[in-house]
Order: sequence, then C-alpha cells, then structure tokens
Amino acid sequence: MTVEKNRIITIANQKGGVGKTTTAINLATALAAIGERVLIVDLDPQGNASTGLGIDRRDRKFSSYDVLVGSRSVAEAAIETAVPNLAIVPSTLDLLGFEMEIAQQADRVFRLKKALATDDARRFTYVLVDCPPSFNLLTMNAMAAAHSVLVPLQCEFFALEGLSQLLETISQVRQTVNPSLDIQGIVLTMFDARNNLAQQVVSDVRTHLGEKVYTTLIPRNVRVSEAPSYGKPAILYDLKCAGSQAYLQLASEVIQRERQRKAA
Ligand SMILES: Nc1ncnc2c1ncn2[C@@H]1O[C@H](COP(=O)(O)OP(=O)(O)OP(=O)(O)O)[C@@H](O)[C@H]1O
Ligand SMILES: [Mg+2]
Repeated sequence: MTVEKNRIITIANQKGGVGKTTTAINLATALAAIGERVLIVDLDPQGNASTGLGIDRRDRKFSSYDVLVGSRSVAEAAIETAVPNLAIVPSTLDLLGFEMEIAQQADRVFRLKKALATDDARRFTYVLVDCPPSFNLLTMNAMAAAHSVLVPLQCEFFALEGLSQLLETISQVRQTVNPSLDIQGIVLTMFDARNNLAQQVVSDVRTHLGEKVYTTLIPRNVRVSEAPSYGKPAILYDLKCAGSQAYLQLASEVIQRERQRKAA
C-alpha cells in the first residue's frame, strides 16, 4: 500500500457560522507550529480565512479562483503568512463567478484536485481547504480533491439535523467523484459548559457518531472571536486562552489519528 505523503483535508459544513474558518486557521497554525508545512486554500468568496490571517485584499495578487481556472499554479498563488510554515491561497470575489464560468466544462469538479496534484503542492504535508457554507461547485471541488472531510459542528439544537444532510452528501460524493473520501473527524465548536443544551448535543453527537468525534471540545471563547479582526490566528493573538489551547489539543489529536491511520 502506498501511503500518500500529504493529507488534503476539506473543512466543510453547509451550515453557516459553525466554525469552519476558525478551525481552518487555528488547526493550520497549530500544525505549522508543530513543524508541519501547511497550506490553507481559501475557497470561500467571503475570504474570511484570508482576512483572518492578515492577508490584505490588495496583496491578493492571485487567488484560488486563478488556481481553479488553471491560469496559476498553487505555488504561484500561495502567499506566506506571518505564521512560519503556513501559506495560504487566498480568495477574492472572483470566486463568485467560477460556477457560472465553468458550468459547461466536463472537469469542473476536478479543478482543485488537478491543481493540488503537482509536486509543489505536494510539498505541503497538510492542505486544509476552507469551504463556503453551501454544497456548491466550490465545495464539490474541495470534496473531490480531499483525502478526508473534517466537520466542525456547533453545539446547538439543530446541529444533528444539518449533520445528516452533510453525511448524505459525503456518501454521494463517494459514489460519484471521490470513492476514497474519508471522514477525518467531527469537531464540536463553541461549546459552552454552562449550557445544558450544549451538553446534551455533545452526548447525542457522541452517541450517533462514536469515535469519529474528537475528544477535544472547542469552547466558546471571546479571544477566539476577537483574533481575526487583528489578522491573527487565536493561537498567536492569545496562546494561553482556552480556545487556543483547545485548538492545539485538536491538532495533536489529528496528528495522533494520522499516525494510527498510517500504521494500520
Ligand atoms: N470557539 C469560538 N468562540 C467564540 N467565537 C467563535 C468560536 N469559533 C468561531 N467563533 C466566531 O463565530 C463566527 C463564525 O465562525 P467562523 O467564521 O469560523 O464560521 P464559518 O463556519 O466559517 O462561517 P461561514 O459559514 O460564514 O464561512 C465568527 O465570528 C467567529 O469569530
Ligand atoms: Mg467560513
């Protein structure tokens, strides 16, 4: 069996505001801090991952749009961030036009996969793809390109409802464009220990999904929500805060599971 050297993880949930981008930024930062070479691909026209990592719009010379349409390589579009070992292919509003422009092309779902299949792109040990909150062609490109999907799930009443739809989509993706797509894991976000409902959601999700759910719970934490306005990952903004510590713990769980998977 060949064990691929890099791991492409798509961070997806069609629900908005569940912590996809926050997880992409802080998990990537934590992995980079451990010494991995990490790339974020910002596939959301909102560009929150790019902004949250301090990449000014004026500095986004090339973007994930250019990569998807094939006019630039990942290496050409990637920008180094202030975090050592962490680069990002930023997003621009051009992405809004991608779906319309590319709808007739037979390989429209495989554009990102193709772009990430180059030697330069494979130098990143982890590629985290931040998706928009919908099942559109951008998310499909992310799912077709990925080895696995990491799902942030907000600890709230409707969490499970949205999740079944997401799991159904992943199973459709397996039947069509990516048979080996794995579920990397489910991470519970914005957990508030004082809220009984949140406790109930955690226990429901664990009952339904068992070991796919990470042990780490990401707490609701003001420092985590402040960090993007300073263009910094929470881990750089305030390393000691509970949210940063949780993301470091999540990174070590991700790495531990990768070791187990490679050993299996
Ligand atoms: N652990 C946390 N504690 C406090 N606030 C958080 C936490 N995680 C995320 N947030 C805040 O919640 C909001 C939504 O988070 P985020 O942007 O990461 O979600 P998203 O799923 O990427 O959203 P979208 O679907 O719009 O892309 C942001 O304002 C973010 O700062
Ligand atoms: Mg987002």
